[in-house]
Amino acid sequence: MKRARAGIPMSASLAAVIVSLSLSAPARADSDDGASARGRALFETYCVLCHGTAGKGDGRAASLQKVRPSDLTVSPRSDEYKLQIISNGGAAMSRSEGMPPWKTVLTREQMTDVVAYLRVMAEREHPRSAAVGGSSPGVKP
Ligand code: HEC
Repeated sequence: MKRARAGIPMSASLAAVIVSLSLSAPARADSDDGASARGRALFETYCVLCHGTAGKGDGRAASLQKVRPSDLTVSPRSDEYKLQIISNGGAAMSRSEGMPPWKTVLTREQMTDVVAYLRVMAEREHPRSAAVGGSSPGVKP
């Protein structure tokens, strides 16, 4: 007598479970930090020409500036100061007018997003974990 095997219906339902599991997997897209991701897009549009893609002050037009654009990865300034100079420009802060004011171009929220990205860039160039002797693998000597 032939025994009925549940093999086929089983694997079909198993397949259904796998499909539904993969469909319900959480989306990774915006899970890290939306602000710095938005800030990055803005930085790459408005700031890289002077400050360079890594923020080190070596953009394509940096050499045309009377004052060298700041290396934003080593800036000792507070986020609040950065917001001020980004918003109002260098001249308003008794710095070089080579740093343009952005308040007519960017909203306050967009400037806050850019500052969030400046933190990411600084951390990328100078990982704090390395400075305090952290254990991250792959940290450059
Ligand atoms: C036309 C060139 C130019 C562009 C474009 C530009 N900057 Fe600057 N930026 C400068 C210069 C030059 C300085 C240095 C001013 C000084 O030292 O007097 C500066 C300084 C700064 C500082 C001060 C940093 C510190 O440590 O004091 C910040 C923050 C900054 N820029 C952010 C930005 C951001 C964000 C953008 C894009 C929205 C941007 N800059 C676009 C030229 C530019």
